[in-house]
Amino acid sequence: MTFRDDLDRAADWADAYLRHAGDHPVAARVEPGDVRARLPDAPPEHGEPFEAMLRDLDEVIVPGLTHWNHPRFFAWFANTGSEPGVLAELLIAALNVNAFTWLSSPAATELEVTVMDWLAQLLGLPRGWHGHIEDTASTATIAALAAARTRRPGGAVVASEQANFSVEKAARLVGLPFRKAPVDDEFRMLPELDLDGVAAVVATVGTTATTSVDPVREIARRCAEAGVWLHVDAAYAGSAAVCPELRWCVDGVDRADSVVVNPHKWLFTPMDCSALWTRRPEAFHEAFAYVPDYLAATPEAIDVKDYGPALGRRFRALKLWFVLRWFGAEGLRALIREHVRLAQLFASLVEAEPGWEVVAPHPFSTVCFRHVEADNDEVARAATATGELFVATTKLRGRTIIRLAIGNERTTEADVRRAWEVLRSSAAA
Ligand SMILES: Cc1ncc(COP(=O)(O)O)c(C=O)c1O
Repeated sequence: MTFRDDLDRAADWADAYLRHAGDHPVAARVEPGDVRARLPDAPPEHGEPFEAMLRDLDEVIVPGLTHWNHPRFFAWFANTGSEPGVLAELLIAALNVNAFTWLSSPAATELEVTVMDWLAQLLGLPRGWHGHIEDTASTATIAALAAARTRRPGGAVVASEQANFSVEKAARLVGLPFRKAPVDDEFRMLPELDLDGVAAVVATVGTTATTSVDPVREIARRCAEAGVWLHVDAAYAGSAAVCPELRWCVDGVDRADSVVVNPHKWLFTPMDCSALWTRRPEAFHEAFAYVPDYLAATPEAIDVKDYGPALGRRFRALKLWFVLRWFGAEGLRALIREHVRLAQLFASLVEAEPGWEVVAPHPFSTVCFRHVEADNDEVARAATATGELFVATTKLRGRTIIRLAIGNERTTEADVRRAWEVLRSSAAA
């Protein structure tokens, strides 16, 4: 067997999987330890054929996976391993470049800088900022807070009580105290912040629970007055800004110091790809630049390792490039609009049904709702146990609520209507 034959097998496998992803139970039906028990204790002494690996992938691994590429995956923030992303990941591994310095692979750095500029244009973000790709928003926020710390060492980090927990974790990691700020009745951070002794404020555009949008412009004004770094976590909702009618969500971000958007959430790019921009690259450089003897800098060139925690860096720019070219701006807008339409449709179905309520504004593709009498954890669990869909719950003002987050390219209106039927009958049971 040649590599070429195995490539065909892998291509057939990926094609069939993507066409039939919707045939699997969405959430894995295994108990802890089940998959491990089916795997050999020791590695093989002799090399095995690719076919053996594919067989075990089908028989042992796939049944133990939760299918994020299933069109009725509605948990957390749904995402897409799109066709251009899948193709790019294959080529990225074939190339296997390490994009730490310009010299380590010049085109990788220059493509990264270019696609970050393209993405800034698509989202209506300022051009001319430094942009690079991190693995996740968690890492991007660690980097931003480390940069902020160079300006006010020891100052506190403030984010709303609805901010993602990765913000508090990042503050802890960079050794800064963390404070939670209260929110209004639509879960947006109150801008009247006490900025005394504060190093950084993290505002969220699209919070994890309800997708609320903090008043970034007003927070930016106050931060600028107080000389406090403003980082914007637009990990999920930033992608919505490809649509002019949704661009209000990034209003004021041009006044921030740094901003992160995750194409691996709602921009059809496979895990992992997190876009980080800053207007203060010199602070990132101060936090992260370290030039060992064996990695001399190239004059006039950008060494991306000097702007974040990692040295070794995957060639993620290639997949973002493929995704942006494959869909084009108009294709991305059409997908985002359709997801927003489907979420509004779902919310209207919930609102029209006695015994159910929508519990938060839903400007994007995520709807928070609850049954007013049933145990909502139990409703979500029972609906998910059908294998037909996957929804997760969270707590809002002390009450359990269910979230339906739409973000997969292959989700249709029929999927959303089916999800609602399953949820209703789960509550009725
Ligand atoms: C608003 C927000 N910020 C940050 C994160 C963390 O993202 P990542 O998994 O890329 O670290 C999430 C994850 O869902 C999120 O919802």
